Amino acid sequence: MTPPSTQDPLALSLPESATPAPALRAAASVPPPLGLLAELTHRCPLRCPYCSNPIELARQAAELDTATWLRVFREAADLGVLQLHLSGGEPTLRRDLPDLVRGAAEAGLYTNLITSAVTLDAARVNALAEAGLDHVQISFQDADPASADRIGGYAGGHAKKLTAAAAIRAAGLPLTLNAVVHRQNLERLPEMIDLAVALGARRMEVAHVQYYGWALANRDALLPTRAQLDAATATIDSARTCLKGRLTIDYVVPDYHAARPKACMGGWASSVMVVAPTGRALPCHAAESLPNFDFPDVRTHSLAAIWNHSEAFNRYRGTAWMTGPCAGCPNAEIDWGGCRCQAHALTANASNTDPACALSPHHALLATALEHATTTHFTYREPGRPPAR
Ligand code: SF4
Ligand code: FES
Repeated sequence: MTPPSTQDPLALSLPESATPAPALRAAASVPPPLGLLAELTHRCPLRCPYCSNPIELARQAAELDTATWLRVFREAADLGVLQLHLSGGEPTLRRDLPDLVRGAAEAGLYTNLITSAVTLDAARVNALAEAGLDHVQISFQDADPASADRIGGYAGGHAKKLTAAAAIRAAGLPLTLNAVVHRQNLERLPEMIDLAVALGARRMEVAHVQYYGWALANRDALLPTRAQLDAATATIDSARTCLKGRLTIDYVVPDYHAARPKACMGGWASSVMVVAPTGRALPCHAAESLPNFDFPDVRTHSLAAIWNHSEAFNRYRGTAWMTGPCAGCPNAEIDWGGCRCQAHALTANASNTDPACALSPHHALLATALEHATTTHFTYREPGRPPAR
């Protein structure tokens, strides 16, 4: 990766060590989060090179126990959360997953399992359905088995996913197929859409890789070309028309070819709360990559206190923190300045405008990264082994 320049005039941007003004910390009236993303574990049998988990993965011994998760789910429901996304890592590696699903359902939460599915057989699927699971999302790495297994770093994984998907549909659970797309699988996007239809999915999420954590370490092997992006967009448009009423397709476009950034998480701490395996509460899944943050722990703080009053959740809420091109920009309440984690990853300052914005003084970094994206070599995620850079 091209290191971010420290010579650029970081126009009026706050240093990360700066303490926000007290006015920024006071949450006058904060609407509750609609979703809670519970990262039950960082353990995973797959080793996807675009994983958004942090480089330093949490150890099993540091994971929250069953009772604490169940208390967190009850607090989430009391706070106003409607949807609980059970994720990881691979959440099915938690032996207590049926108990967690049952507790969440009893708390009144809609439960969505986000899984690679390689550990799911019919018995486990049925146990989860019986516990009250509402919905399953399976990630597929490709439509071609050999390529899928190579990308996931797990031999035989694709075949296991197909078996699990059939079991999920047989149990009567609605299925969404997640496809993370990049330079090494985009050619088969039409086949991936066909796969979603064949498996009986009613929804498909096609998301270009977002470059944090392991994905940033593998950026040179993953970034798509402009021609690939244009072909993918045409494929999605056509499939949406052909499959209207049969398959809903959500599409997340890549930042690196954009002129304006995405509204990451719909805005910092605006609608979703993340709890990491260790109990750290985060405004987004990549926030642990940000320095100079004291993210609160659900073992010692209630979700309501964290959401409404913690400095970490209030630091980038709204628009008052904005400087540089974002301050006063007509798009400020549309994209919320883009992604804080991407701003930090590329400019070493999370308070900067996301470089995906053409108005950012760092926007040229993205074009430089695209020029360097020529390798096909993956650095696979390995617990305890940071990628060599
Ligand atoms: Fe969005 Fe900031 Fe760019 Fe305006 S300057 S479009 S608010 S990222
Ligand atoms: Fe953290 Fe975008 S992933 S703000």
